[in-house]
Amino acid sequence: MPRMNRTAVLSLLIVISSVFLLFQLYYYRKYVSKPGPHILSQTGHLTTSDLQWQTVRLFLVLAHRFHLPVFLVDTTALRLLAHDASWQRELHCSFLCTDRPVMSFALFANMWKFDRCHFCDQPAFLSAAKHKGFDVLELRGHDPRLASLDTLSGEDIPLYFLLRLHGFIIQVVFLYERSGNYLWHGPLRLKAKMDLSFAPFKQLDYGRHAGAYNRPDLVLTVLDGLDVRVPRNVSRFLYEQQHSRFLECRYHDARSFLQLYPDDTSPAAVDFHRKAKALLHLAAQTLAVLDVPFWLSSGTCLGWFRQCNIISYSHDVDIGIFITDYRPDIVTAFAAAGLSLKHKFGKVEDSLELSFLSDDVKLDIFFFYEDGDIVWNGGTQAKSGRKFKRVFMSLFIRYIFQRFSLCWAELLELKVRVPCETLDYITANYGTSWSVPVMLWDWKSSPSNVQRNGLWPKHQWADLIQVY
Ligand SMILES: *[C@@H]1O[C@H](CO)[C@@H](O)[C@H](O)[C@H]1NC(C)=O
Repeated sequence: MPRMNRTAVLSLLIVISSVFLLFQLYYYRKYVSKPGPHILSQTGHLTTSDLQWQTVRLFLVLAHRFHLPVFLVDTTALRLLAHDASWQRELHCSFLCTDRPVMSFALFANMWKFDRCHFCDQPAFLSAAKHKGFDVLELRGHDPRLASLDTLSGEDIPLYFLLRLHGFIIQVVFLYERSGNYLWHGPLRLKAKMDLSFAPFKQLDYGRHAGAYNRPDLVLTVLDGLDVRVPRNVSRFLYEQQHSRFLECRYHDARSFLQLYPDDTSPAAVDFHRKAKALLHLAAQTLAVLDVPFWLSSGTCLGWFRQCNIISYSHDVDIGIFITDYRPDIVTAFAAAGLSLKHKFGKVEDSLELSFLSDDVKLDIFFFYEDGDIVWNGGTQAKSGRKFKRVFMSLFIRYIFQRFSLCWAELLELKVRVPCETLDYITANYGTSWSVPVMLWDWKSSPSNVQRNGLWPKHQWADLIQVY
């Protein structure tokens, strides 16, 4: 009898707990696992953030169906994610509901498969989006990867998709791999025959300029109940995004220039070209490890701007670095990379200039000093007696520039920075006749932005002028 009792009680307990478990499962499925605005939508009317969440969800479902691994690049959403602001916002949609009518995603363009749908000449993805209620706009542009000095007729490629639903715009940014091993997106250019009211174009995160990026590492995460890919290091991506403006080389003008002044194809010029390219790549690598940004300066900048190439008779590679980015270990890092210091002029507080030598090509690093509206770099002209390396004359001058910002560009298959206001920068150095080659350039007197500063005090020469 007691045994019977115990079995019955045990069975009863099992039944009760199973029922309770089932109830929990049911409850979980119905309420908890349904994230996002569904919970609130039960009240009957959808709020703005509900609609935004629905729009993003529908887009992500579509992208998933077409195997398009889009990732979140929206600066507002990523900033919320970086600061994990969820606790101070609406709980159900903390990251993807941004109070902005646009949301940006990016797509590695090599993942894009253009399969037309049957009976229409649109990509199947776009017609599926239309079917789901989206209004779609495809923006195309020239393929710069095919544009070079030889061929200027770039093919047309997709640059952006805009998908509109419930008044929200999803911007899809196509990122193309470029030969300098970086990602590029094109500028978004409105055309006259386009529907200019389609989207609040000014509010789009991407497209005002072309942009260049390092390939980001991605992670799949859950945001507001949706599976979303995001850059692994969100703050690095946001930093890159702010400084991503890219300038295409002026291939058209470069071709005109080369028709007037054909390239030197002598073995010496070809040799210099090869060495200069290796040197620029090495310098870029070394400075990237130190996290020191640099830009193309003087003749190297002129070469990029005028002929999309290095100037073969220049005999050196010139780069600029802001003195605020100076680090004392630059010299040791270059030495470790096989670049020997050839001379050091000036000092960190004034007119610093370092010169390295590799494979008989010189790398000149000019340090730039910001001073109010202007930026300047120093030049030291040292005349030394060959035999005893004794300096017997030392003139120092300043080259003055208007303040400039930095943009990305490509030279010799390398992503490099150039002053965004390139024409001003070059004109400051070379005057308005920069488009005419000058073989013998006198840096003491030729530049239009030169300002003579007199002589360095004699007792400081040993310190200020070091020739190795
Ligand atoms: C993210 O990037 C920043 C800037 O490049 C860097 O300082 C930081 O260490 C990175 N964070 C992680 C977790 O890798």
